[in-house]
Amino acid sequence: MYTDYWGLKSLPFENVPDPRFYFPSSQHEEGLHRLLYAVTQRKGAAMLTGEVGCGKTLLSREFLGHLRDDRFNVALITNPDFPAQQFLHEVLYQFGIDTTGSRKVSMLHRFNEHLLNNDERQIQSVLVVDEAQAISDEQVLEELRLLLNFQRNDRFLLTLVLLGQPELREKLWAIPQFAQRIGIQYHLMPLEPAEVDRYVKFRIQAAGRSEELFDPEAVQVISECSKGIPRVINNLCDLCLLSGCLAKASRIDADLVRMVARNGYFSTPVSTVIHG
Ligand SMILES: Nc1ncnc2c1ncn2[C@@H]1O[C@H](COP(=O)(O)OP(=O)(O)OP(=O)(O)O)[C@@H](O)[C@H]1O
Ligand SMILES: [Mg+2]
Repeated sequence: MYTDYWGLKSLPFENVPDPRFYFPSSQHEEGLHRLLYAVTQRKGAAMLTGEVGCGKTLLSREFLGHLRDDRFNVALITNPDFPAQQFLHEVLYQFGIDTTGSRKVSMLHRFNEHLLNNDERQIQSVLVVDEAQAISDEQVLEELRLLLNFQRNDRFLLTLVLLGQPELREKLWAIPQFAQRIGIQYHLMPLEPAEVDRYVKFRIQAAGRSEELFDPEAVQVISECSKGIPRVINNLCDLCLLSGCLAKASRIDADLVRMVARNGYFSTPVSTVIHG
């Protein structure tokens, strides 16, 4: 463990969706505010897509942290690749509704009652589906679309929030009657180089160290190797801190980053960066 060596209170570059490490980049904030707008204004559906490892899941946790328990009833499905018959069960289960032995019609009735009951108490019901690109049964998408029919004359009783990799957009665009109903959308791209610098500094600070650790040139190499993808930045920075500790370095410089990058899997063929 290198935390003591670098004067850190915790590991700064863990790939877990811990909102304490949420870096409010301009894109993440835009995505977050669109999702919050969708639920506070009781829209029917919102979709956040983004490149692999760019922060959709972490952003969803940050988003959930903004939803007060007394105003929102949230169900989260993190692995939605169920057969269609089981999907509705899973949705109800995540809302805490008993489904034992229920047939589809009575499940839908119970769900409707649950949503109406929430609505009467001025609680908005929110269903968040992460990894929605992994839904392989088209009937499940149809089930999701039908959930948007739970509405009153002037508002939706349920807000559906879909998160997924870029294929999700294509999947939904192929179903216009669904895609058209998703009024709020956003796509997360990798971080810009200037943001990579702020990202690295932010995470070091969030882990309890106020002085900088990476040389500016080192951050430049990290930015090139990772193409700005946070998950890859994390992997690379973590290994740099480990190697730097073993080498008793006082800071992380560009040579050390290149050495670490040469020996690992990062999104750019490292040779182009090292010899470029
Ligand atoms: N805005 C951010 N602030 C801090 N860390 C971030 C941010 N975005 C991403 N990360 C880091 O990158 C890691 C990967 O992000 P995350 O798992 O949210 O990506 P994803 O888009 O859901 O990926 P996948 O497409 O594989 O599901 C996170 O665990 C987190 O540590
Ligand atoms: Mg994810």
